Amino acid sequence: MVIEIAGTGRAIPPERISNQDLAEQIDTSDEWIRSHTGIEARHIAPPHVSTSDLAVEAAWESLKFAVARAEVEEPGPEELARTLDLIVVGSTTQDYYGCPSTACLVQHRLGAQKAAAMDITAACSSFIYCLETAAALILADRRRKRALVIGAETLSRVANWNDRGTCVLFGDGAGAVLLEKRDYPEENSGGAGPGRSRGLLRTILGADGSGWEHLIIRRGGSREPWKSGETVDIPPHVEMNGHAVYNFAVKVITETMAQLMEEESLAIQDIARIVPHQANARIIQAAGKRLKIPEEKFYLNMGEYANTSAASIPIALDELNRSGQVQKGDLIITVGFGGGLTYGGNLIRW
Ligand code: ACO
Repeated sequence: MVIEIAGTGRAIPPERISNQDLAEQIDTSDEWIRSHTGIEARHIAPPHVSTSDLAVEAAWESLKFAVARAEVEEPGPEELARTLDLIVVGSTTQDYYGCPSTACLVQHRLGAQKAAAMDITAACSSFIYCLETAAALILADRRRKRALVIGAETLSRVANWNDRGTCVLFGDGAGAVLLEKRDYPEENSGGAGPGRSRGLLRTILGADGSGWEHLIIRRGGSREPWKSGETVDIPPHVEMNGHAVYNFAVKVITETMAQLMEEESLAIQDIARIVPHQANARIIQAAGKRLKIPEEKFYLNMGEYANTSAASIPIALDELNRSGQVQKGDLIITVGFGGGLTYGGNLIRW
């Protein structure tokens, strides 16, 4: 049994805010943002659009894609949605605080009545965590066959628009992939993990909770709840120790890519594309330099979307897929890091 990606989709809010637009509001410049991050613009959801709205749009796109490419037998996306066994949403900006999960809202809107639904929060590593979790859950029971994995964020809602050190980094968006369990008789069967030659081949997941404070939305949880009568000057927002996150990111993405290639006996020539979390081009360049990976192996789109956290990798996968830049049989590495601190990577045969 293998777990393959049968469809991809994305949702990008139309409103585009360039660095220049930001420079008219806060003390920053296009030159600073570009040179320090590689970011040129970000897309921001309008006030009436929430994370689940973007997630649902990306989900429908992925289902339509699978139907259009005849990856599934169902005649339309609605029929396909009804067959889903599982919906997993990765997000740091869920519609509601803790309950209900955003995945339940998505399940309802898709009409995916038989799907179990849950959210996973691993900040910007969420999609990598979600992919492995969903794959393992559909492999765990012979009656389960299909899962929808979505990374969706409205980070503009938790950005502190007065803090130039963080607000310039983030954007909104969603990406989705349809996972399908398939049985190829010639494949090595068995549990999840190495030994497979198609689909999701291998995942590395990790965390270093000692860095919990380096990227944090401090207020509103059980540790520092809002108190009745309290005046709120700034809504819940991201605080970040940029240097600590930067150093952690370069270290863990270097190690994760090296480990994936080493343990699977792969050389960089074997990998068609590396799809990193789109936080900062300098982080990716530094890691690439350490491993002597040519820059063109990395797919970068943070120039247009900035850091969309859990959504950044599935948005990039969808762009690659729809533009034909990945072909069936290509080996892809995803790699990412985020608050927690967390990190991980997937090795996928497309
Ligand atoms: N515009 C202009 N100047 C700025 C801006 C800005 N937007 N932001 C900071 N500066 C200034 C600082 O005030 C500082 O000025 P000073 O020297 O007069 O004090 C100067 O620029 C240098 O600031 P640094 O923080 O040292 O800049 P650095 O080169 O480290 O870049 C950055 C900062 C881009 C945030 C970097 O540390 C970084 O990318 N870190 C990783 C962040 C990241 O990836 N976060 C996402 C994690 S994923 C998740 O889970 C959401």
